[in-house]
Amino acid sequence: MNKNDDLDRLRNDIRDITADIIQKVKKRMEISEQIGEIKTRQNINVEDEKVESDLRNSALKIAAEVGMDSEFSGRLINMLLTESVRLQNKQQNDNPQRQTHLSIFMKAKQLQATGKNMIHLEVGEPDYLPPKTVKETLGRIYDLRQYHYTETRGVPKLRQAVVQKVGNGIIDEQVIVTPGGRFAVFSAILSLVKSGDEVISIEPAWPAYRECADFVGAKTKIMKTTLEEKWNPDLKKLEDLINSNTKMIIVNYPNNPTGKILDGNTMSNIIELSKDYGLYILSDEVYSDYSFNGFKSVLEYSYDKSIIISSFSKGHAMTGFRVGYGVSNRDIISKMTKIQSIALTSVAEPMQYSALSALGESISGNVEVMKRRLLFVCDRLQKMSLSFVAPDGAMYVYPKLAEGTEDDIVLIDKLLDLGVAIAPGSGFGDSYKRFIRISACQTEEVLEKGLEVLSSALG
Ligand SMILES: Cc1ncc(COP(=O)(O)O)c(C=O)c1O
Repeated sequence: MNKNDDLDRLRNDIRDITADIIQKVKKRMEISEQIGEIKTRQNINVEDEKVESDLRNSALKIAAEVGMDSEFSGRLINMLLTESVRLQNKQQNDNPQRQTHLSIFMKAKQLQATGKNMIHLEVGEPDYLPPKTVKETLGRIYDLRQYHYTETRGVPKLRQAVVQKVGNGIIDEQVIVTPGGRFAVFSAILSLVKSGDEVISIEPAWPAYRECADFVGAKTKIMKTTLEEKWNPDLKKLEDLINSNTKMIIVNYPNNPTGKILDGNTMSNIIELSKDYGLYILSDEVYSDYSFNGFKSVLEYSYDKSIIISSFSKGHAMTGFRVGYGVSNRDIISKMTKIQSIALTSVAEPMQYSALSALGESISGNVEVMKRRLLFVCDRLQKMSLSFVAPDGAMYVYPKLAEGTEDDIVLIDKLLDLGVAIAPGSGFGDSYKRFIRISACQTEEVLEKGLEVLSSALG
């Protein structure tokens, strides 16, 4: 037998084995769909961490016995598990859709279009104006012809201003200007996480982290925190979630929706854990301007595998300008830049110059206003006997509904009928249907009216 016969035979074997794998995977999907039907009928959650983890461990054991690389086999298993979850979710999506702050916002907008008055306590968009200087900048941009493509990472002046703002020895090459913090989160995850990898999200959490991970085919492991534990993550449980496929821990402090800021010790332990396991830390700090209680940026820990996200949307009240930024090591920033160049060339130049001028203005007035409003909301919620942890920062209060009352979605629908939009707690994680999120982005007068309606709806 000559060498080419050998090659042909081996190629045939590969073809046969690949066909076997495809048939087996198809069979697996059919069984998964049958399980999905039963779950839908019995109203059981699609995801079951214990079942998944048992299946994963037994498959990994076999993989180890036959000498397969654990990272690759873990990813393969995760891809199969993710596909099962996707198929089963598809079946359950014929049932009622998951409601988030955004879907409630859309519903409220539709009701408004029919002529109904609405109080918006669901959306995280401050009602006050961007800094005055932004108006002048916008007026000058046409004459200055600042309306061209720019470098993908942003105009040098804005990058430099960001370097000044963030400090901590950061240099220009470590900064990328993005269209909002959301795109920075997306491009960081798309750059660093691939299909079959795992990320850890500390819930309750802004739903976009999970959506981004889903989008790249990664699995999100949930680190659940509770009101009773003052939204502090249990570090032992956090460590237990890490395995050979874990790539990233996502943190967001000041937190949306709880307003929590972790104490320095806990954050430093999370960084140490990430170092021990070589994980990326994605730190979403878009609410850092609204910190009332000892916030320390993850940048201060000088961890090379951290990515810090910030934005002009919240502190500067510039949501529609769509300007944010990411700060990390050069290699990660260059990966994020590649994605940004493929997707959108650059952030709109007029918006970048608007953001630059905003950076020169003090926003302490906004911070004071937000602090006052949050205190106001807390005071009213206390009078309704709702339990919550007073926020250390951000723009929200996240109270728990009293025992024996209806779940968030039923209450939220009732409130919409009464002309008040509030975000359901379950939009921030499946475990939180006994919570609602109230945004303090309106005047105290409007907040008062909205909370009055909430109080009477709670009975
Ligand atoms: C936690 C968190 N991160 C990021 C963002 C994105 O903000 P933007 O894309 O407007 O900068 C939001 C918006 O609500 C948020 O709540």
